[in-house]
Amino acid sequence: MSALDEMVTLARRAMSNAHAPYSRFAVGVCLRAESGRLYAGCNVENAAYPQGQCAETSAIGAMVTAGDRRIVEVVVLGGGEALCTPCGGCRQRLVEFAGPETPIHMGGADGIRRTMTLGELTPLFFSPQNLGR
Ligand code: THU
Repeated sequence: MSALDEMVTLARRAMSNAHAPYSRFAVGVCLRAESGRLYAGCNVENAAYPQGQCAETSAIGAMVTAGDRRIVEVVVLGGGEALCTPCGGCRQRLVEFAGPETPIHMGGADGIRRTMTLGELTPLFFSPQNLGR
């Protein structure tokens, strides 16, 4: 199994564990860190709606908790006919740990449908460089 196939498998598994009783829209993500380790996450909604969190947020939290800091590849799988693209907030969260060339593979339970770089998805993003870091 290729590394990307493994990422799709983990994202699909995470998607099946999503807690999305309000939107009924499950999302699963898998991040590959520079270390080669893979981190999955799903969306976790809440009865107090704004307290819900996106799948990317869950996966980034798992990655940072484990000690990794650089994302080199991302898979985002979501339900529905339309392509599940990362929301604006999650693009910004990805920017913190990824670069403009980082590939973002997007699709559904059927697999990857489209790949774009983070820079294409989020032109002129605000990054730690803007702060001079
Ligand atoms: N969602 C994600 O998990 N990631 C995204 O990038 C897009 C949206 C979730 C949030 C919410 O639980 C559900 O999808 C519907 O918006």
